[in-house]
Amino acid sequence: MQTTISKHAFFNLSHVSPLVFLYLLRECYAYGTCKASVKFRALQQQLYLVFLNNSQAGPATLMAHCIYLLPIFESYCDGFCHLVLSALRRFLKVGNNGGDVLKAKVCAAKLFLDIIGGSLIHEEGVQIKIVQVFDVNLSDIDKVMCDLSVKRNPKADTAKEVIQQYVSKLIELQSYMTAVDLLTHFSIRQSGESFLLKMMECRQWKAAEKWATYMGKPTLCLLVQEYVGQKLLKPAYDVIKKNNLRQEFPELYHQGKESSLKKLAEKGVWEIAEARANGDRQLLEYLVYLAMEAGYFEKVEELCDRYSLKGFLNFKEPEPNLLHQRYLNLQELFIEDVFWIDEVNSLRDAICYLEECKVVGIDCEWKPNYEKGRSSKVSIMQIASEKKVYIFDLIKLYEDVPGVLDECLARILHSPSILKLGYNFQCDVKQLAHSYGELKCFKHFDMLLDIQNVFKEPRGGLSGLAEKILGTGLNKTRRNSNWEQRPLSHYQLEYAALDAAVLLHIFRHVGSHSQPAGAPDGHAKIEWKSHIVSHMDSLKMPRKDTKTGEEPDGGTDRPGG
Ligand SMILES: *[C@@H]1O[C@H](CO)[C@@H](O)[C@H](O)[C@H]1NC(C)=O
Ligand SMILES: *[C@@H]1O[C@H](CO)[C@@H](O)[C@H](O)[C@H]1NC(C)=O
Ligand SMILES: *[C@@H]1O[C@H](CO)[C@@H](O)[C@H](O)[C@H]1NC(C)=O
Repeated sequence: MQTTISKHAFFNLSHVSPLVFLYLLRECYAYGTCKASVKFRALQQQLYLVFLNNSQAGPATLMAHCIYLLPIFESYCDGFCHLVLSALRRFLKVGNNGGDVLKAKVCAAKLFLDIIGGSLIHEEGVQIKIVQVFDVNLSDIDKVMCDLSVKRNPKADTAKEVIQQYVSKLIELQSYMTAVDLLTHFSIRQSGESFLLKMMECRQWKAAEKWATYMGKPTLCLLVQEYVGQKLLKPAYDVIKKNNLRQEFPELYHQGKESSLKKLAEKGVWEIAEARANGDRQLLEYLVYLAMEAGYFEKVEELCDRYSLKGFLNFKEPEPNLLHQRYLNLQELFIEDVFWIDEVNSLRDAICYLEECKVVGIDCEWKPNYEKGRSSKVSIMQIASEKKVYIFDLIKLYEDVPGVLDECLARILHSPSILKLGYNFQCDVKQLAHSYGELKCFKHFDMLLDIQNVFKEPRGGLSGLAEKILGTGLNKTRRNSNWEQRPLSHYQLEYAALDAAVLLHIFRHVGSHSQPAGAPDGHAKIEWKSHIVSHMDSLKMPRKDTKTGEEPDGGTDRPGG
């Protein structure tokens, strides 16, 4: 095909009219049986060489004239426009002749005015390419408008106004990308947020992103907020990363980083995940939690050693031997102390202790309520570490020292470096937010693992799960007890403590459960999916009022909460 073209008058452009040029081009294109895309590439290369050979003949001006004529070639029009413009773009990047380029620019400016004036039809992609390839700017267009001394449009007498009017039309037609391309090419700034919001509404993400990038930081920030509003966290994170908005959105950046680490860990490429954490302590800790959840204890140890991370569970401790017991009890779970926390000093001490833990079990209790439409306040919250369980009297602490309670619990519940284990956590979270609407600490929760999601044990609730995993269940007799009475009975305290403490013991088995049995010891290929939730908003939770995973008799192990 290359020889065919060369043998034609293409060889010398000096005496070729645009019409003849296009006619020959079509002949060349019709020749041969290659695929259209192959022909396109070959012709583009050939045209480029012809332009190089004929730079004195003014190829840029010739092509501008060709574009004027191309609509008469009907079905070839769009394709040939792109063909000659692409070849010309390459040519103009290397050698050219200044006189030709200036003449071509004037011609291209006229072309563009005719297109937006409606007297010449070219598709939007071609419109953009014309102004880009010929590098037409506003003053070029102004000059043409002046030279023609014909007011094409009585309402607009500058190039900028003409283009802005055209852009409004494009926006009306929802041709957002073309509108953005034109505005950015001519460096026209469209004020106000509504343009961006309109594009977001129509889900024109690419156009919106290009526009925001052009407009700068405030618009980029708005774009991120809009993405978040539409729950599109991944693109929000990508925009943050690409445009260096880490300082503006530290939390989102961190969340995005975490979710990419999570994906890497789930794929089993722990080394890459570790490299991506790039020494960031919080991210490394997150990775340790993931390794714990995956039951990959060598990795836990390795990471803790390498980065001196402390406070994680000791997986080498002996397992409780519970087989001779009817029910779980605190001693067998190695719990040394259970503390009742109902005043400010012990509250502060408890939080200081718990802050040093990397994994805690959390549970809540409230008085069962059988009247419709009324629900009790959460009465107590139990937080268990490996050795100690703290039972917080929420009702009293809230009455006496609401501010301190709020600040203290937030230090645990909002902490990204303390993994909170729960069982059917959604239910507790909702009840807490409902009971203590004024407290900030219950508005969101960070780093949660709902054991129920991991095991999906269909029957028996937490007790059934404990029985299955540890061999012994929980005494369910306290089912309907009154959690608002004070003092709570010895049994109530013990059961409350057990509910939280048992979660830590079950957690040790999460990894072995979520991996298929007989997985090879190389952890690279195993199928495992993390259930850790790094952020949960109690206010934005799906409405779902029934407890799941419990027996139909209304909660075998958890009467109220
Ligand atoms: C460019 O010019 C040279 C010599 O004038 C010629 O041999 C060659 O075939 C030309 N190339 C094209 C693509 O026309
Ligand atoms: C627009 O292009 C012309 C050449 O066509 C050039 O002389 C002028 O400096 C350019 N104007 C701007 C604002 O770039
Ligand atoms: C179970 O709890 C009830 C009271 O809540 C108690 O009377 C009973 O002794 C407990 N059973 C065992 C085996 O501990």
